[in-house]
Amino acid sequence: MTPRRRAGMSLAANSNETRSLWGTHLELKSTALLAIVARLMDSHDQLDEILTCRLDDGQREVKPCSIIIFGASGDLTARKLVPALYHLYVEGQLPEPFKVIGFARREKTDASFRDELKEGLEKYSRTKKVDAKKWKTFASSITYCRGDLTDSGSYEKLKKHVDSFGDENLKNNILAYLAVSPTQFGTIVEECSKAQLIKKQDEGSINHRVVVEKPFGVDTETAHQLNLELTRHLDEKQIYRIDHYLGKETVQNILMFRFSNAIFEQLWNRKAIDNVQITVSEKLGVGSRGGYYEEAGALRDMVQNHLLQVLSLVAMEPPVSLEAEAIRDEKVKLLQSIRPIEPSKVNEHIVRGQYFAGQIDGENRPGYRQETKVKPDSNVETYVALKLLIDNWRWSGVPFYLRTGKNLPLSASEVKVQFQAPPNVLYNAKCGMNLDANTMTLRLQPHEGISLHFNGKVPGTSTKVRPVRMHFSYDSEFGAYTPEAYERLLLEAIAGDATLFIRRDEVETAWKIVDAIRDGWKGQPLTNREFYAAGSWGPIASDELLAKGGHQWHNPRLLNQ
Ligand code: BG6
Repeated sequence: MTPRRRAGMSLAANSNETRSLWGTHLELKSTALLAIVARLMDSHDQLDEILTCRLDDGQREVKPCSIIIFGASGDLTARKLVPALYHLYVEGQLPEPFKVIGFARREKTDASFRDELKEGLEKYSRTKKVDAKKWKTFASSITYCRGDLTDSGSYEKLKKHVDSFGDENLKNNILAYLAVSPTQFGTIVEECSKAQLIKKQDEGSINHRVVVEKPFGVDTETAHQLNLELTRHLDEKQIYRIDHYLGKETVQNILMFRFSNAIFEQLWNRKAIDNVQITVSEKLGVGSRGGYYEEAGALRDMVQNHLLQVLSLVAMEPPVSLEAEAIRDEKVKLLQSIRPIEPSKVNEHIVRGQYFAGQIDGENRPGYRQETKVKPDSNVETYVALKLLIDNWRWSGVPFYLRTGKNLPLSASEVKVQFQAPPNVLYNAKCGMNLDANTMTLRLQPHEGISLHFNGKVPGTSTKVRPVRMHFSYDSEFGAYTPEAYERLLLEAIAGDATLFIRRDEVETAWKIVDAIRDGWKGQPLTNREFYAAGSWGPIASDELLAKGGHQWHNPRLLNQ
C-alpha cells in the first residue's frame, strides 16, 4: 500500500485535487502528466478500500449549559433522559461545566433525587453495568429544585437556583425539557419568561431553548393554539419538538442513503417504483397505557408523528443544502403534497382495527376492550392502515401504504419499496405471478440494515428462478452500536441544531392529514371486519385495501426466517 492509500481520506480533498488537475493538464510536460495519471490510477485503486467522508469530527460543538427537566419525577426522566445524558457524559459529549436540574412538585433532596435516577439508570441503561466512578462525577452535576408548575414563586426560586451556580454561561445557555403533559407547556413557558429564566432569542447573546415532548396537541386546532402560546414567549428557532423516530440511526440514514448514492435515487420515482409500504408493527399490546390510548388511538399515537416523518424522509425531494431549514422545507412540501382524504371517503383509503384476545408466542393476550382503563365498548383503533397518494411530479400514481398496530406477530419497523415488474416477455411471460417482485427493504429496527431482493437462477440442470437477497447489516458492517434515540436528540438540542426536530408548519400539516381521517370516522362504530386477533397481522379489511390496487402486504420477517 502506498502512503497515500489510507482509509478515512477526505472525499472533498480528493475531488478538488482531480478538478484542479483537469484545469491545468494542457500545460503539463509529459513526465508530470505520467505522474498525474499514476496518481489518478492510484486514487482510483483507493475505491477498493473504505473511503470515509467525514462531514464533522463526531464531536458536536457544545457550550456550558444548564438542562432543566420539568416533570422530573416522571417516568421519562429516569427511563430515557437521564440514561441518555449519562451516556453522553461518558462519551465526552457534554460540555464542561454542565448542570442537570430536576424540577417537580415532590419533596426531594439532591441526594435522594440522584439515588432515584441511579436506580433508573441501572434498570434502563443500554450499557451494563453502570460505572460507579463515572456516575458519581456525572451525578455531582445533578441538582433538584422543588416547585409547583402553576406557581410563579416556584419559577423565581428556580431562577435563583440557576443563578446560584455562579456561572454566567450556565445562566445564558439553558435547555428546558418539558417532560410534562402538553396542557402545561404554555404555563411553563409563560412563567419561565416572567421569571426571566427563559428569554426570547433576540434578547442579546442569550441562548435559551425549549424541548417539547409529544403529543404536540391532539388535532390541528390544539397544535396551532400550542404553537401560539409557545411563540408568544419564544422564537420558533428556540422550540425543539421531539419525535424520537428522528433520533434513530436508521431513520437518519434514509437521507444519506438517498442523497449520497446515485444508483438508488435514479430509481426513486414513479417510473421505477410500483408501491411503497411503511410498517411499524408492535408485538406488545397497550398494557398499562389504556387510559392514554383511549384518548390517542394508533392514528394520533403513531401515524401523525412517526409514520408521517418516515414517509416524508423517504419521499421528499432533495433539499437545497444539508441545513435544518432546507431539509424541513422539503419535508413540509412533501406532507403538503399528500392528496387530502375526504372524510366521506375515508373507508376507501383508510382501515382501522382493534385487537381482540389472542395469543403471541404461546402467551395469551387480552382484547383491547379488556385492558385496564379501556371502555368495554371502546371504538378506539389499535391498528391503522392507510393508502396515501402523493400528488407531485415524482410520485404521481404510486400508492404509499402505511400501517401500524399493537399486538401484531412481531415488532419491526421497515420501509419496503416494491419496484415495477419487468416487461411481460421472457421470464415474466413464463412465470407471471410466480416471478417475485424486486424489492428493497430499509429495516429501521430490529436487524437494522438494508436488503435488496432480486431474482436469480437456482443452480442446477433445471431452470428455476427465485428471489435472492443482498444484505447490508449495521451490526456486521459497523459492529453493535445502538445509541438510544434520546442521546442523539438531546445532544442536537444542546448543540442547537434543529434538523432532527419538527417545525411548526410540519406538525400542523401532519395534524391536518390525521384530522380529516378522524372526521370520517366520527360516529362510525367499528364493524366486525375491523377487529383482528392479537397475534395476527391486522384486520382482513387491511388486506382488501391493498388487494383493490392489485397489491399485497409484505409482512416484516426476522432475518433468519
Ligand atoms: C411511542 C408511542 O411514541 O412510540 C408508543 O407512544 C410506541 O405507543 C412507541 O410503542 C414505539 O416506539 P419504538 O421506538 O419502540 O418503535
